[in-house]
Amino acid sequence: MNSVIPVLDPASPQAEAINNLFLQVLLISAVIFAIVTGLILIAISKGRRRQTLPDQNFGSEKAEIAWVIGPVIIVLWLVAISANLVITLNAIPDVKPQSADNAEEVQDVELIITGHQWWWEVEYPKAGVISANEIHIPADPKRKFRIRINSDDVIHSFWVPQLGPKIDAIPGRDNYLWLQASKPGTYQGRCSEYCGAQHAWMNFLVIGETEEEYQKWIAGQQKKPEATTLISPLATAGREYFFKATCPRCHKIAGTSAQAMIGPDLTHFATRSEIGSGVLTNSTENLTLWLKNPQAVKPGCKMPNFKLSEQNLKQLVAYLETLK
Ligand code: CUA
Repeated sequence: MNSVIPVLDPASPQAEAINNLFLQVLLISAVIFAIVTGLILIAISKGRRRQTLPDQNFGSEKAEIAWVIGPVIIVLWLVAISANLVITLNAIPDVKPQSADNAEEVQDVELIITGHQWWWEVEYPKAGVISANEIHIPADPKRKFRIRINSDDVIHSFWVPQLGPKIDAIPGRDNYLWLQASKPGTYQGRCSEYCGAQHAWMNFLVIGETEEEYQKWIAGQQKKPEATTLISPLATAGREYFFKATCPRCHKIAGTSAQAMIGPDLTHFATRSEIGSGVLTNSTENLTLWLKNPQAVKPGCKMPNFKLSEQNLKQLVAYLETLK
């Protein structure tokens, strides 16, 4: 599914347009490179054989006109194809600036992404779903997700190489992007703006799935996990500990008294495939490793080492794994 160089395997019309521009510029540059190095090599080999200075060619108007006009044409060509890309990207309906007239229209987004040091908050405002680091969208060449992007702390940059352009996540400013996947797949996302110690571990996944799978996922995320899961005594003890300890001061679990939004929403934590913005895959062992000392796994992350006892650790892991 993921090629070795994802950026060269576009999976949306926007990413395709960007990839086309890249390949065209690469081709033009390669031809120029070949001509220049070729001429240099010819000059070297001829000059060596002759053991004299090559012919000096000054004051030839024809030659001078040729090497002014040639590069100008090439530069104009590059300008034209770049401008064409900008037009293509903007032609995807509306990246209008917000004004009093279109405030409502601009607000009308299906997805709100907020950058945090160092994770991504994912909110589907219409469906009332909040998640983290994992974005689900229907994979359909005709279905576009309008997303609003901002940041809670410093400037981040939201980038899914296979799906389109990068866009900055800026505190106090809303940016908009169309997110679209032409075919089903799991697409890697990255933070593309240096944002502090764990910038490199601010990864996320975009999961493009069929409309049916997507609707199923949304419905699953809308449910309150506590109401549907039968939980073991170990997990029950973990739940008690979760609410007795400081966890609810940072995390939210819908339908409970934990409503803080400092760290990732944990309502459906167990359905996600990764922990800590991609630093670990979500498994019992890795979750234990993470809770034991998040600072050892992701140094500098905002979750401190709580020095949990072995027993509390097991209970918490058991509880978090019920959050489906
Ligand atoms: Cu967030 Cu780099």
